[in-house]
Amino acid sequence: MSAILPPSERLWWKHPLDRVEGTWIVIALVWCLVMFAMMVGWHIYGKQNLSTETYKTTREMFSAKAQAVVDKYTVRTETDKQIPVVHPPAGGDVYLIGRLWDWWPIIEFEKGKTYRLHLTSMDYNHGFSLQPVNINIQVVPGYEHVVTMTPNQSGTFSIVCNEYCGIGHHNMLGRIYVK
Ligand code: CUA
Repeated sequence: MSAILPPSERLWWKHPLDRVEGTWIVIALVWCLVMFAMMVGWHIYGKQNLSTETYKTTREMFSAKAQAVVDKYTVRTETDKQIPVVHPPAGGDVYLIGRLWDWWPIIEFEKGKTYRLHLTSMDYNHGFSLQPVNINIQVVPGYEHVVTMTPNQSGTFSIVCNEYCGIGHHNMLGRIYVK
């Protein structure tokens, strides 16, 4: 049969369901349900998909809060770009800005203390990927994502952008120290 000609049987679609076809539909449906349950299960047991709070924000509001924390809690600067290293008090809020193409500022946490890390983007979608622990958060302009975190291992952690954002994407790196 060619697609140019009309179908030879007028009700070509009205056949009884073939057993193989039916079996595949059931398999696909069951698999959808399994995958859906996995999303919920992985959130609870996998401990990798974080529970973040999300609020609407603007660039101006977020930058003002980020700048206030940087002014108050900067302990030193690093690299020839003079990136501030912010050491917020335990239980405090700290703001991280993603933009073309860096994460600003550098943050220093203390192990075992809890912090609220606020994230936003100043321009396009970026991806906050904390290495090597593989914590991933979408960073979306216009929204403030808040992650409550208690670092349980000390060391130097890299923030890698994992959402393609243009020519400098591969250079969009940041840093979190845990002491
Ligand atoms: Cu920011 Cu890729």
